[in-house]
Amino acid sequence: MSKGIRNQYSKYGVTNYYTQFGSNYRNPHERRLTLSIKKMTSLFSDLDYSNVLDLACGSGEITLALQKYVQKRPLKISGMDPFTNEAYKMRCSSNKIETFSFEDLANGQIFGRKYSLIICSYAMHLCNKSVLPNLLAQLALITLHLIIISPTKKFQIQNYNWQKINGFVQEKVHVTLYKSINFEMVWEKLDYENEKENENENEKENSDQKEIKTKEKQESKTLKNEKGTKEKEKLLEEDQKPIKQETNKKKVVIEKEKEKEKGKYIQKTKRKISSQKKDKKKKTKSNSNVKKKQKSKFK
Ligand SMILES: C[S@@+](CC[C@H](N)C(=O)[O-])C[C@H]1O[C@@H](n2cnc3c(N)ncnc32)[C@H](O)[C@@H]1O
Repeated sequence: MSKGIRNQYSKYGVTNYYTQFGSNYRNPHERRLTLSIKKMTSLFSDLDYSNVLDLACGSGEITLALQKYVQKRPLKISGMDPFTNEAYKMRCSSNKIETFSFEDLANGQIFGRKYSLIICSYAMHLCNKSVLPNLLAQLALITLHLIIISPTKKFQIQNYNWQKINGFVQEKVHVTLYKSINFEMVWEKLDYENEKENENENEKENSDQKEIKTKEKQESKTLKNEKGTKEKEKLLEEDQKPIKQETNKKKVVIEKEKEKEKGKYIQKTKRKISSQKKDKKKKTKSNSNVKKKQKSKFK
């Protein structure tokens, strides 16, 4: 760390300094930093660079060096820094940047993520000592490998979550590779739990779908039944139509015949009455003749 920047930190305080000047930040030692990244990529060539987090990324010094020297593919790097968003975007426009701080990470705000590698350059010594243990514990849950780059050999991680596995010093730049002790075990458990959760969700989804299908089947059955009954009723109606028509016709014929019979009966009765009248007249006439004859006899 240069004397100049140290003076700035003591003048403003770290947070105030980066709040004020973060958007214009540039590392004055970028050349030697880039060269140590070149060495690092050849020394640690087995590392997985498919999802790298450049933590406290400044204006993208590490991101740019990795993009220059990592040969392995896939290569994906994103930045994270609460103060240098603009400076990073200016130089690394195609990389994602988020504004989480060391304190946010220590509080577990990105717990559940999985990075293949986290690199923190010229920054972790700035983290508040009371926050550092939690930060390291949380980092151990989201990445298997952590590389700390420091301008001073004084800064070394001594934490039960991390094991130092490699390192070198080049032009006063200290590069140390650590491996998380808990990561694999924790993720085995998390993956298992996630798998179980997924299985349960799938099972629930399947049973929900089954239930929906059964309901749909029942509904369509009821609809079909209703439709069937209506159709049956309609068919029955259609069947009964000619019978009804026939019955109506028969009724008309019967009515007509009845009318006919009635007419005939009336005619017959009329004729009977008139013949009876005639007979009566005849009788009365013959009776009066007899009476006349008797009268004349007596005379
Ligand atoms: C010396 S610069 C290093 C930047 C870059 N990594 C590099 O190697 O040049 C320190 C960085 O730490 C960041 N920083 C300061 N306080 C921080 C905090 N509490 N949480 C996260 N980052 C912080 C600053 O914004 C700054 O980008």
